[in-house]
Amino acid sequence: MLQNKKIIVAVTASIAAYKSAFLVRLLVKKGVEVKVLMSQRATEFITPLTLATLSKNPVFVDFVKDKTGIWHNHVELGLWADAIVVAPASAHTLAKCANGICDNLLTATYFSARCPVFFAPAMDLDMYRHPATEENLRKLESYGNYIIPSEYGELASGLIGEGRMAEPEHIVAFLENFFQEKQIFAGKKVMITAGATREAIDPVRFISNHSTGKMGFALAECFAQKGAEVHLIAANTAIAQPEKVSFYKVSSAQEMFEVAQTLVEQMDICIFSAAVADYRPKEVATEKIKKNSETLTLELIKNVDIAFSLGQKKKKNQFFVGFALETQNEIENALQKLKKKNFDIVVLNSLKDEGAGFAYDTNKISILDKNGNKTDFSLKSKKEVAEDIVGYVYESLF
Ligand code: CTP
Repeated sequence: MLQNKKIIVAVTASIAAYKSAFLVRLLVKKGVEVKVLMSQRATEFITPLTLATLSKNPVFVDFVKDKTGIWHNHVELGLWADAIVVAPASAHTLAKCANGICDNLLTATYFSARCPVFFAPAMDLDMYRHPATEENLRKLESYGNYIIPSEYGELASGLIGEGRMAEPEHIVAFLENFFQEKQIFAGKKVMITAGATREAIDPVRFISNHSTGKMGFALAECFAQKGAEVHLIAANTAIAQPEKVSFYKVSSAQEMFEVAQTLVEQMDICIFSAAVADYRPKEVATEKIKKNSETLTLELIKNVDIAFSLGQKKKKNQFFVGFALETQNEIENALQKLKKKNFDIVVLNSLKDEGAGFAYDTNKISILDKNGNKTDFSLKSKKEVAEDIVGYVYESLF
């Protein structure tokens, strides 16, 4: 759940700062990319060297690195993170974040962040119970932050009660619970075609296109994370196989069709994101074609239209998603495809949009449905676009 997440561990001045070393270590073990931010006073409790070594990243304390003039950009840090965990969160830092006081890199990053922020308070019993602290915690929650409650036990002062920072294992469990995907597609079977088919000309040459399959793979991952049984038919992709997905490696349109045909009956949702070659050479030379003549003519014949063919037999309870990459009359053409191929929705990519289409890590889409509704989405990473498409399918089905 936390694998590949980017988390800032923000350490403030409290004796519990020694526990942040364990927290950083546990997060790194879970596959999290960790960056540590410290308040100046926190460095008196635990050294940046310890946390830099454990997090495998430099630690950020001041806006400017020594006297080098190198500037640590709080906005960039805030935007980089998928989550910020302030652990330990001292009464002072809680008060500053609750009341808009921004006087160091740590608080500036908090105020610039768009990601979820978690506070794990750590202080003495009476400080924790003080109405001002309680009010600050309430305020922080009302701003959409999350409080990881302090735990009961012996405090550094010798007093016994609440105020101890939650144990690092409990903080990790809190984060895992937060990031755990709801299994909204549990029990559903999803087939996805992805990549670019290759149509052989001779043993060493082929006709193909620029599709990388990134969008289809992001969709497969997203559906799988939400509990679906995913079958990914991939043509000529160089991306790592997503986890928990049944994978079928194919090359030509005909091979892709044959696999899809055997699966389609049992599927609830079919996504046609592959860029399938519409034509293939009529004859495939058995030997490498030599350049003996000035010109070479290839006769091409039509390939099977996988989406069209399967769309003809679509069952009532099945949901089909098509893709359309258009360069002109985009909406008209996309809607025509939706009708002709019996799609429930069609995802439209326009090559006119900067950063969208083949090979980019980003994409800009519109979704068109059978009733002529059009929903536009902004330019996003393909992972986020996959979330949008999967969310749209969910809204349409349930
Ligand atoms: N598709 C398919 N099999 C094909 C061609 C396309 O399954 N032989 C699917 C694609 O995966 C996509 C949709 O059909 O979901 C539309 O593909 P596109 O190439 O845009 O449309 P075409 O029907 O090939 O029309 P044209 O190339 O003329 O625009």
